[in-house]
Amino acid sequence: SSTSDFTSILVSSPAPGVSQITLNRPKALNALNSTLFHEINSALRTLSTDDSVGAVVLTGSDKAFAAGADIKEMKDKQFAEVYAGDFLAHWTELSNFRKPIIAAVSGYALGGGCELAMMCDVILASPTAVFGQPEINLGVIPGAGGTQRLTHALGKSRAMEIVLTGRNFSADEASQWGLVSRVVPEGESVVDEAVKVAGKIASKSRIAVQAAKEGVNSAYELSLAQGLHLERRLFHQLFATNDQKIGMKAFAEKQKPKWTHS
Ligand code: CAA
Repeated sequence: SSTSDFTSILVSSPAPGVSQITLNRPKALNALNSTLFHEINSALRTLSTDDSVGAVVLTGSDKAFAAGADIKEMKDKQFAEVYAGDFLAHWTELSNFRKPIIAAVSGYALGGGCELAMMCDVILASPTAVFGQPEINLGVIPGAGGTQRLTHALGKSRAMEIVLTGRNFSADEASQWGLVSRVVPEGESVVDEAVKVAGKIASKSRIAVQAAKEGVNSAYELSLAQGLHLERRLFHQLFATNDQKIGMKAFAEKQKPKWTHS
């Protein structure tokens, strides 16, 4: 489907090499229903093969990045349906996207909204951002990474406190705990800052960026020895690219590299 057919997201091009996906269900605080997630997946599929795109910004509104999975859509589902249909499996497509995704979070990032932000590669927060995994208050638990990615980021004790009590946490706490890379100063736009970061990434060799993302993500999947091995092999492989020759030659000649992304 074309981006203009979307009803729950907006897709734009805020800077060279950067695409922006804006969650757009303002009346439901961007609650993540199946239409919205299918639209994210469809947009990312298009962006994955668009050579002009080097990085993506994912954002919501000032009031809400996303207030979670759509509770009204979920509330009457039965076990057989969610189990047989592997409910929420379609959310994982985003975490397999090979280009960097920068989440720009203002307002509520709760439940599935917090999990969605954690599936991204970098999270930037505005001082208004509120994170949390309130699923315990609904008689369930996080179902899209909240018990896993949050524990990797925060450590066991903090993750347990957040997941077991369902209490929200602030942008400052998220920053102190290492969940977000930083909080932008009050009065500055977190989306503008995310577009800047994405633009900077998009100005690098795409092939090196892809390898770098694969390397960092492997740190969460592999043992240290396996991860170091993979990293060294990825490093070796980049010597087969034009961009390695271009980048190193440009350095030696005090020139700016002109990447070919090959
Ligand atoms: N699903 C469906 N609708 C939602 C929603 C959600 N997660 N969050 C908010 N909305 C809707 C509200 O029902 C309301 O709709 P109506 O105007 O039709 O009543 C509208 O958005 C505005 O919300 P509020 O009136 O509640 O706004 P508020 O400013 O008073 O409160 C809030 C904001 C604290 C975020 C509150 O909306 C809230 O607690 N939302 C639910 C948060 C939550 O529990 N998220 C976890 C969902 S479960 C999950 O995500 C599972 C998973 O792991 C994948």
